[in-house]
Amino acid sequence: MNILEIIEKKRDKKELSKEELGYFIKGYTNDTIADYQAAAFIMAVYLNGMTKQETADLTIAMANSGEKLDLSTLNEIIVDKHSTGGVGDKVSLILLPLVASLGVPVAKMSGRGLGFTGGTIDKLESIPGYQTGIDIQAFVKNVQKVGISMISQTLNLAPADKKIYSLRDSISCVESIPLIASSIMSKKIASGAQKIVLDVTCGSGAFMQSKERAEELAREMIEIGKLADKETVCVLTNMDEPLGYAVGNSLEVIEAIQFLKGDMPEDLKEVVFTLGAYMIKLAGKGNNIEENKQRMLENVKNGKGYQKFLQLVENQGGDISYIENTDQFSKANYIEKVYSHQSGYIQSMNAKDIGKIVCDLGAGRIRKEDDIDNSVGIILKKKVSEKVEEHEELVTIYANSEEKLKEAKKKLLEVIKIEDKELEKPKMILEIMQ
Ligand code: URA
Repeated sequence: MNILEIIEKKRDKKELSKEELGYFIKGYTNDTIADYQAAAFIMAVYLNGMTKQETADLTIAMANSGEKLDLSTLNEIIVDKHSTGGVGDKVSLILLPLVASLGVPVAKMSGRGLGFTGGTIDKLESIPGYQTGIDIQAFVKNVQKVGISMISQTLNLAPADKKIYSLRDSISCVESIPLIASSIMSKKIASGAQKIVLDVTCGSGAFMQSKERAEELAREMIEIGKLADKETVCVLTNMDEPLGYAVGNSLEVIEAIQFLKGDMPEDLKEVVFTLGAYMIKLAGKGNNIEENKQRMLENVKNGKGYQKFLQLVENQGGDISYIENTDQFSKANYIEKVYSHQSGYIQSMNAKDIGKIVCDLGAGRIRKEDDIDNSVGIILKKKVSEKVEEHEELVTIYANSEEKLKEAKKKLLEVIKIEDKELEKPKMILEIMQ
């Protein structure tokens, strides 16, 4: 067996065996297969796709390419949650303390943002002192102590995915169903969870732009979950406009805190409660989805979710005075309101375009090693379908340079589309697949 034969087979639309896929993953992880050969192979997969069997075999090989986390000492059903990515997506920051406050143990490893999408770890790191890089023993101990820990990937989980993901990013091969499914599921299989709830985003700010494509991705991941004996539920959610109102690291943390204190934007509430209700169910802590949603709502109202968030932050070394008084978060130098030039109804706010605008303000990275600015971003004042008057505020921009502020303002006015036509509020939960 050699890499040339493997590339040739995929190039010629033939099915690869488990051994051939294992050979590729092993060789690429230990650097005996060169980047240019891996790039040719990945492009062939992107163009010609994979059978279900190939995708499953690729996933298992990737999951086995590094360390695997063993969470059996927790003696509980661990349910992992993952999103396929979005803009303004602060769901984990709200949902995980909330379900933890209902007795669902949370042992969560999250990622950083890349390109136009944000990452939970960057958001958590905007809380001064919060340690995202604690070791695994401390991670497990924190879950035992307060029922929740959220950290970055400190273990060498699925190292093949790390290499393949950055390669895909550099050769325009991200939007491929077998490649996304194997990337996500290999990490989930290696992360030690027994069950998985996936937020499969769909729309302009997601990798999957249509519901059909999102369904196809979900089906693929559910199948892989079955083969790996990890029950998987996919919630297909709308990502046509940013989720909630804030986009940008500390601005999103503040929105998450406000949510936990009872100020819940409707779209965010629907996504958080639906994903949470399934997490609670899979964890064996409540079979009735509607009741689970009610219990989450109660724990917002009685402050238990907020208290759990405080415990999480304190336990990871974060300064909780920032959570108790969010005015302490460092402010951007330029804060400017943008007003509408016309009256009408908001027709669309392309989430990807908004993500790029916020990334250009400094909130995101173009390359992995780039520094990010936690204080910049935007806060929307209106959502799609809402009425707006001429001269009414549309959005506030938080910037640290006058030039970037000007550029963001110009682009936002182009992205926020307003017409006279009335339209219905977009549906947030598109489908539940299991
Ligand atoms: N998230 C991942 O972890 N991998 C992908 O390929 C896409 C989104």
